[in-house]
Amino acid sequence: MTYNHKIKVSIVAVAVSVVLAGTIAGCNTDSSTTTVKDDAYYKSLAESLIAKMTVDEKLNMLVGPGMTNANVANLKSDTAGVAGYINGVLNTTSGLDIPASKLADGPAGIRITSTRSDTAGTFYTTGFPVGTLLASTWNPEIVKEVGAAAGNEAKEYGIDFWLAPGMNIQRNPLNGRNFEYYSEDPLVTGEMAAAMVSGAQSEGIATTIKHFAANNSETNRMNVNNIISPRALREIYLRGFQYAVENAQPWALMSSYNKINGTYTSQRADLLTNVLRDEWGFKGLVMSDWFAGDNALSQVTAGNDLIQPGATNFVTGEVPLTVLKTAYANKTLSDDIINRDATHILTQALKTPSNQKYVFSNNPDLNAHAALAKQAAEEGMVLLKNASALPIDSTSGTVAAFGIAQLTTRKGGTGSGDVNTAYIKNIIDGLSGQFTVDSTLKTTYADWYSANKTQQWDAFHMNYTWACSEPDASALSTTEINTAAAADSIAVISISRIAGEGADRSADKGDYLLTDAESTLIDNVSTAFHAQGKKVVVVLNVGGIVDTTAWKDKVDGILLAYMPGQEAGDAITDLLSGVTNPSGKLAQTIPASYADVPSATSFNGVDTNSDGTVDTNYYNEDIYVGYRYYNTFDKPVAYPFGFGLSYTTFGYTNSAVSDNTLNSKGAKGSVTLTTTITNTGNVAGKEVAEVYISAPEVNLKKPTIELKSFAKTNKLDAGATQQLTFTIPAEQLASFDEANNQWVIEPGVYKAYISPSSDVSSTDPVTFTVNSKVVVSNTSSGALALPDGVTESSFITVSK
Ligand code: BGC
Repeated sequence: MTYNHKIKVSIVAVAVSVVLAGTIAGCNTDSSTTTVKDDAYYKSLAESLIAKMTVDEKLNMLVGPGMTNANVANLKSDTAGVAGYINGVLNTTSGLDIPASKLADGPAGIRITSTRSDTAGTFYTTGFPVGTLLASTWNPEIVKEVGAAAGNEAKEYGIDFWLAPGMNIQRNPLNGRNFEYYSEDPLVTGEMAAAMVSGAQSEGIATTIKHFAANNSETNRMNVNNIISPRALREIYLRGFQYAVENAQPWALMSSYNKINGTYTSQRADLLTNVLRDEWGFKGLVMSDWFAGDNALSQVTAGNDLIQPGATNFVTGEVPLTVLKTAYANKTLSDDIINRDATHILTQALKTPSNQKYVFSNNPDLNAHAALAKQAAEEGMVLLKNASALPIDSTSGTVAAFGIAQLTTRKGGTGSGDVNTAYIKNIIDGLSGQFTVDSTLKTTYADWYSANKTQQWDAFHMNYTWACSEPDASALSTTEINTAAAADSIAVISISRIAGEGADRSADKGDYLLTDAESTLIDNVSTAFHAQGKKVVVVLNVGGIVDTTAWKDKVDGILLAYMPGQEAGDAITDLLSGVTNPSGKLAQTIPASYADVPSATSFNGVDTNSDGTVDTNYYNEDIYVGYRYYNTFDKPVAYPFGFGLSYTTFGYTNSAVSDNTLNSKGAKGSVTLTTTITNTGNVAGKEVAEVYISAPEVNLKKPTIELKSFAKTNKLDAGATQQLTFTIPAEQLASFDEANNQWVIEPGVYKAYISPSSDVSSTDPVTFTVNSKVVVSNTSSGALALPDGVTESSFITVSK
């Protein structure tokens, strides 16, 4: 079903068509038949409507009406479980009839309430794989399809603004919300977010990229002050947002809870106006995160157009609407600011379904979307290890399924990123569907689970998932394990973790490290199965990475399944059986140990005022986040960024620089590279090829390598080849010169490694030369500066 942006006869359109007639280029005066896709049209429409609005109506548009529907202005129909609204206007004097808009979370699918008291019907939505897994597909096309499917569900359930995608950088593996985000790398982050935005917005739904910016931890998230160098902000934490804005124009953006360099992001004009709008050309609306910041007047003045959810800020006690009305009365809030922000909001709201009078069905195609969720999950899971253990031949022997995670399979994380799905396919369901599974073990686990499962509440104590310990020795004895090893052909051990909004993870046993029970299980199962000459495979069903160093040598195969959405069990099984050949690759590094993470000692902040809560987070590793650190400082890792195995093998030949226009076209130039990928194995598969650039250091220090492009092949049959082309625009190649507020490409010889992962040690680079410095763009002078009295040398500990 497509949505063609047709403006049907609406009171709004009719009311303004007279005003607009003849004034907008290319605009048909008959608004009942005009197909309008032009942003300029909606901006003019918004301006003409705002000209008729009272100040109170405008201020009401700048502040949400709260999280319930009790006070929403001109709500035409509600959708239970939305996160917030944008007030509309209904005024018989002016004739204005602008419907309110509805806002719903979140990155893994549309989060609404699935049942309602007034009807027997259900309103389930599809639980797609979490952001990290989607990024691990390295395939923007499938991410775009997921975006379109989620956008369609939003549209068919009456939603206007989708509060997704989440796209903060995975600075540290312990951030509780990493699962919602894409990667430690800004290019992967930006490309995935842009794909998601394009997909959803093709359905006529606004996306809201979030949380802008540097929202990289959850502890004291509403107050924490992140101290970050302007260069690290530009190159790492803002870069993905910039990519998404410039390439996909999201209709909305959510500022974050945290402060950057002393000021709440929602109150920083340099961030929200100078950088976002003036430099990058953002045309959408900016909304706050829920109850963020401490000063409504500075928010709307800085360019945080919309304060959400409105009503009373439970943290500060401020009532934003009252604050703005008082400020207007005493002339500290001008008509210009009000009109500017209201125009930003209304221009976007007018494009969305409620204002377009879209009649929603409450009946999206959940079956088709479930199939897509499964396909995306299979494309993103990462095969980390395979010592001739996989794929499992479903026609020979039985599978011994161990680990309570076969029953506590996690489709996604908790908090606003959770989705109310009709079901989740557990791992044991998937295995049982394709293999003969050991029935004794299956019963052991089922009995233990029903006797021992407990409710595990999220950080806000609002929702729970079922959790359960591993069966103890009385339930699963060594004898039973030995019996299984004798009878079954392979062991599959599932291990899961939950994580979510409002809390960070810990580096301890049970979270980053395995529990003692999990370690013992791996030991006992491996000993028993290896004694019989049989293999052991571990499936990791986790939102963020866990330690693998302590146990990876004890097992024969590891599948990093992440949180794969509602089709988890079937998708995992398709990869284990070889129905689908794995083609996901890591969008984050798995370090050798948590202590090796460059922010291990600074995450998640320090308690400077000794009130018992961390308040200041020094980004001590500067630009050396993730593989930028491990590669530059020669730190061995467990699995490098960009790594992932397949059931086939691939060869890279004829890597070359096919074009370089940087010297002739400067800031408008680009470099083009090509390589030929050959499937050198025996089964069909897809390969991700990654381009890492090693740039010369003239005045600026540089990470040893940085990802500047990537591409995924089609499914190649054994022996088949495909040529891949990578174009790197000047903008993508540039580094941020903080002293001069410029993006620059320094002169010299650049090495390009076209490689299967960020371990480029066995790849011969190709080179290209930049003859003289290229200034790619100038930026706002002094934007995002460190607070007074803080210098980079006082907190940056990682440096060459
Ligand atoms: C989260 C946002 C979410 C919002 C509305 C906030 O607590 O940080 O990601 O969109 O709530 O639910």
